[in-house]
Amino acid sequence: MNQQATTRIEVEPHIFVVFGGTGDLMRRKLLPALRHLASRGHLGKRSIILGVARNAELNDESFRALAREALAASPSPAYEADGKWCAECLFYQTIGKGTQENFRALAARIEELEGAHKLPGNRAIYLALGPGAFPSTIMRLAEARLNRSPGWTRLVIEKPFGRDLASAKELNQILHRHFQESQVYRIDHYLGKETVQNLLAFRFANALFESVWNRDRVESVEITVAESLGIGTRAGYYENAGALRDMVQNHLTQLLTLTAMEVPAAFDADAIRDEKVKVLRSIVPIRKEGVVFGQYDSGKIDGEAVPGYLEEPGVASDSQTESFAALRIEIANWRWQGVPFYLRTGKRMAERVSRIEVKFRCSPVTFFQPFDDCNVHSNALVITLQPDEGFDLRFEIKSPGQGMNLKTHQLSFRYEEAFEPLPDGYQTLLLDVLTGDQTLFVRDDEVEAAWRLYTPLLEERLPVSPYTAGSWGPPEAKRLLGGGEDR
Ligand code: BG6
Repeated sequence: MNQQATTRIEVEPHIFVVFGGTGDLMRRKLLPALRHLASRGHLGKRSIILGVARNAELNDESFRALAREALAASPSPAYEADGKWCAECLFYQTIGKGTQENFRALAARIEELEGAHKLPGNRAIYLALGPGAFPSTIMRLAEARLNRSPGWTRLVIEKPFGRDLASAKELNQILHRHFQESQVYRIDHYLGKETVQNLLAFRFANALFESVWNRDRVESVEITVAESLGIGTRAGYYENAGALRDMVQNHLTQLLTLTAMEVPAAFDADAIRDEKVKVLRSIVPIRKEGVVFGQYDSGKIDGEAVPGYLEEPGVASDSQTESFAALRIEIANWRWQGVPFYLRTGKRMAERVSRIEVKFRCSPVTFFQPFDDCNVHSNALVITLQPDEGFDLRFEIKSPGQGMNLKTHQLSFRYEEAFEPLPDGYQTLLLDVLTGDQTLFVRDDEVEAAWRLYTPLLEERLPVSPYTAGSWGPPEAKRLLGGGEDR
């Protein structure tokens, strides 16, 4: 959990090994986050980073040059000593074709570096790789005895964790053959976002909200993660994924469980994850009538014409991949029985916004109805996760003047008015890996419980309705969510 703003945590000296060391994630996210943590003194003086990739032409020097370029291009602030840091802390090792021999050479290089830097054998191994490479890499790591060390060894895996229930189980089995669950850190980067972590504080530190957070007071909950970007050049990945696998099974489901979970017995990783799993197990099998899939047509975003999904490079002309999904979820437990949770996500939507809207029930007696111009709206709490992070509490107020005319206004809080810019989620998550805090990482049973919910929908091959780029999705989705204004 993010404690960086107030506490300087110094992690134990270690080597941070990144598979996919020259890739996009390393350049855009991991390197800037590690650099930031180092600049704040979190990494200590002896810790080092070893980039691992196929490229046999690279060496420590040319890898450092790549890293300097990546840091210069990153939106995070540059530090004067970037060059010095790269020279002292970054190293490179090729993994060639990934043979047993290559992994033995990697193990030897790690030991050599640990010797030279007097490291005690603490290792974080980050797989920033395509999902297809996970099983073989995990097995080869174990063969080279890189699954254990004189200190701690932690394995970090980026989503997707499988593509359905069967493959997720298989991946967990391979992992557990060689690593303890306590060594495995499955990253869902949404959990690194400050505003997502704040859901716990918001709910459990404010008794005011917790007391109305239930079926008696809440009418519905709507969770939206809308993006205005399209799939860009990611067709190779996205055509085999779609919105359900790419966003719903992981990011939206995390938001759902954090919103719906019970108060944990303690504020520790397993107690919190236990409660999240209980929510997943209480969800009633999702009916196909409660699901709308969509695919964007051409349209306009911010006044600019944008192509439809089928015109994106690399997309099959008859593709049925969904770039939008809306679902109605029912949680059959004492707190939420009868309260619909709507999940909605899509690409090329009207704006980029992630928010959770909790709509409260109207007053039991419509006391104001006899008056003219008097339309009572239900109260709502809107938690905006990004951008413009904060929350708004909507309430009704009498418009001053003659008559009883009601108007909706809101009490608002904005992070940017109260705090410095929020840290990037990867800073939080990487520091947690290095301090051994698994609270913000997805557990094996959680992954499987989520796939158990969505796999039947993937097997159904549901129809995909078109929607215009720049809209809020297909009209069927609006009906599913109960109408209302477009947002
Ligand atoms: C990724 C998905 O996990 O999350 C992308 O693969 C998506 O398709 C991205 O665009 C959204 O993340 P964020 O942090 O920009 O909301």
